[in-house]
Amino acid sequence: MSKLKSKWICQNCGYETTGYLGKCPDCASWGSIVEEVFSVEKGTASKKILTAKATPKTISEIDFDHKKRLTTGMVEFDRVLGGGFVEGSLVLIAGDPGIGKSTIILQASNAIAKQGKVLYVSAEESAHQIKLRAQRLGVVSDNLLVLSENDLDAAREVIEEQKPDFVVVDSIQAVYSSSVTSSAGSVSQVRECCNILMHIAKQLGITVVVVGHVTKDGAVAGPKVLEHMVDAVLYFEGEKFNSYRILRSNKNRFGSTLEIGMFMMEDDGLTEVSNPSEIFLKERSGALASGNVIIATGDGNRPLLLEIQALVGPSSYAAPRRVATGVEYNRVLKVLAVLERRVGLNFSKHDVYVNIIGGLDVKEPAADLGIALAVASCAKDAIVSDKAVIIGEVGLSGEIRAVSHIEPRIKEAEKMGFEKIIVPKGNLPLKNKTSIKVVGVSRLIEAITESLAGLQE
Ligand code: TYD
Ligand code: MG
Repeated sequence: MSKLKSKWICQNCGYETTGYLGKCPDCASWGSIVEEVFSVEKGTASKKILTAKATPKTISEIDFDHKKRLTTGMVEFDRVLGGGFVEGSLVLIAGDPGIGKSTIILQASNAIAKQGKVLYVSAEESAHQIKLRAQRLGVVSDNLLVLSENDLDAAREVIEEQKPDFVVVDSIQAVYSSSVTSSAGSVSQVRECCNILMHIAKQLGITVVVVGHVTKDGAVAGPKVLEHMVDAVLYFEGEKFNSYRILRSNKNRFGSTLEIGMFMMEDDGLTEVSNPSEIFLKERSGALASGNVIIATGDGNRPLLLEIQALVGPSSYAAPRRVATGVEYNRVLKVLAVLERRVGLNFSKHDVYVNIIGGLDVKEPAADLGIALAVASCAKDAIVSDKAVIIGEVGLSGEIRAVSHIEPRIKEAEKMGFEKIIVPKGNLPLKNKTSIKVVGVSRLIEAITESLAGLQE
């Protein structure tokens, strides 16, 4: 008989203690520590993985075996993975509920079914529901098997018997293993199930994709505890009220984490967006208005041109309002402070609104200069040319700091027909020649004079 043991585990971050605590000392969330009971002997999937005979080798002795990659039939998806799913890897796809995780993975399964046998284990939906979705997506393949099952031990037997090349488990929060007595979705269940799946991936050489929900309140065990166990973590992001979806890799043992993939959710599933800048710039108003600036954001090989809008107006509040949509609030506050102190603008009696068009989130510092120029443009009622792209990080002393991946951003601006690009001087000289006019600036005031003057003539 296996022994029952109990632990108190934080459902938010996986922190373990021997007794109840109101607040997790690790992630500081309240009321997230609950008792979980599990049997000690059975949870040994992790040990089995390590039983293979291991002898150290010199680095040159190690064979570089090119593992097969399964392609998803979507260029955007493959690029984020670094060229497709690597044979025998364990990949987590995480995202908010309803964002389209099951849809993208079912579409990918359809393409993968042409390269091998696929088993889709659904713990959330019945086989009938999957069939309905598959019909909507035009998914028909005799190589795609569907199993509606919550019990991972039972699913494991099916996997060992069927020997598929590709397994999807949708979702990790809905499956359970009987070796752990706590309920499905708890941290120890999620960990144990992930261990079992890792065992399947590594021992049988099957590619396993795990779908995980993230919730803001931490009610369900977040996929955070899984991140260190899997080979790659992909985040599927977007807004409910917007049809754009972005696939981003957060960790990838087989490729770059800088790539993003863009999709659009339509009635018949997700379609790839191969030229996102075009879409985000499409709705630019014909007549020039102050407060509008184009920035080039994004890392890796996929920069994105986006429009930032700012509105500055007299405030009727005692404490003027600052509203930031799509950019970090604190970043806007910092830029306003620098504009006040180093440029001499005054916003103490003005409301300031900053908005990224298209419902996207821009987190990188390279958007600072764009925000600053948009705000300055509106405040001074001077237009920034719609043929100019702005890149740069703004420092507290009003200096413009160099940013990463400057060349791909410039290339994207050139491709989209822009004539001028304002970049940090620290990024110059460029390695490659370009036809676009590149202007280097080292101070914020210089950037303002450069971009605002250029337009008034
Ligand atoms: P789903 O893949 O079920 O999300 P998740 O698995 O991340 O919870 O997708 C849910 C949403 O996507 C649902 O609100 C309906 C929408 N959708 C479409 O717009 N078009 C489609 O072709 C499909 C299948 C879903
Ligand atoms: Mg789903």
